Amino acid sequence: MAATIIDGKKISDEIKAELAIKIDKLKKSGITPGLTAILVGNNPASESYVKSKAKACAKIGVYSEVIRRSAEVSQKELEDIVKELNRRHDIDGILVQSPLPTHIDELAITLLIHPEKDVDGFHPYNVGLMLLGRPIFLSCTPYGVMELLRRYNIDPSGREVVIVGRSNIVGKPLGAMLIQKQKMANATVTICHSQTANIKEVCRRADILVAAMGRPQFIKADMIKNGAIVIDVGINRVEDQKEERGYKIVGDVDYEGCFDRASFITPVPGGVGPMTIAMLLTNTVLSATRRANNWRIG
Ligand code: GUN
Repeated sequence: MAATIIDGKKISDEIKAELAIKIDKLKKSGITPGLTAILVGNNPASESYVKSKAKACAKIGVYSEVIRRSAEVSQKELEDIVKELNRRHDIDGILVQSPLPTHIDELAITLLIHPEKDVDGFHPYNVGLMLLGRPIFLSCTPYGVMELLRRYNIDPSGREVVIVGRSNIVGKPLGAMLIQKQKMANATVTICHSQTANIKEVCRRADILVAAMGRPQFIKADMIKNGAIVIDVGINRVEDQKEERGYKIVGDVDYEGCFDRASFITPVPGGVGPMTIAMLLTNTVLSATRRANNWRIG
């Protein structure tokens, strides 16, 4: 049986259309949501993410700017940029594109972002609130996965979810979101990683399998159970001379191989990727709405 394709592009377009209506209303009350991305160096993937973010902002009426610095930027200069953005009233969201050069203390930068403007949901304060089930911002990629499940009426409650990958931006927060005692969560979660014994057997238990370890096409058909729901968070560039640009984008799942065994599957591109941006915009509009309502933490 062929899987149903979970169309992240379509869902992200729906979310953006919903946001555009909210933005119109905010603008009528004199507030334009504003997002600043800080981009350091010239990592091609980061360039491409930031470009997509700026394009999406322009399309729905979010003011956006990109602050660029060379890979030689100092810790002090980055910190000063964040402090200034914290002060600015026209900016609702601050995003520091990772990875940063190795001489930069990334955690120190994240800690400086005001939690009310942390639309990436990476500040430890926000990670903590999310873990407690009282989030003010959810991290965009795991939030995007939760939203895809919700909009496809896939209820994780009582089901076995296996997440492959324990990153701070996907695996760990997604696991925390899925175990919350709340609707469209309540899952039984296992997180696998490079040290997991018998990873194949663990994956085969999954009703919902999430691949988020950054290894091209690692999940093969014999690693999923019949009828599994397969969510692919991977975005990998692999060499392909048939493509004009010399590479193609593949996920962490062998999509073709798993297609006939899964009940639902996300494609790459066009699955989770567009959802990350949709949720970033969602968080930015939420932050602007809070500004309109003079909302403050605590
Ligand atoms: N690098 C890869 N994904 C992300 C993301 O969602 N946010 C930021 N800030 N950097 C990233």
